[in-house]
Amino acid sequence: MMELQGRSIVKEVESVIGASVLELAREHKVDWGFNCTRGTCARCRCHVSEGMEHLTEPAEIELVRLEPEEIEAGFRLSCQAKVQSAGMVKVRHRPYF
Ligand code: FES
Repeated sequence: MMELQGRSIVKEVESVIGASVLELAREHKVDWGFNCTRGTCARCRCHVSEGMEHLTEPAEIELVRLEPEEIEAGFRLSCQAKVQSAGMVKVRHRPYF
């Protein structure tokens, strides 16, 4: 399962192995800003408060785009973070602005 918290909505959805957090948010109509889907704009930045182990390791572009402290604190780019195993994941959309 995945709990997705957008600006005005929280939804619990079935997580799908291989799907990105952004794909799941869009599919389930959670208000989740994004622009490029390539890891460069950071509009899709999110914070993972639970279940990071069920997501893929940060992609190369996330390591470039996000500060090491952000990665350490649980921030990810939702267009890059993909589900890799079953289990509860809690994610909140947290863009810079
Ligand atoms: S949509 Fe641009 S970085 Fe994710």
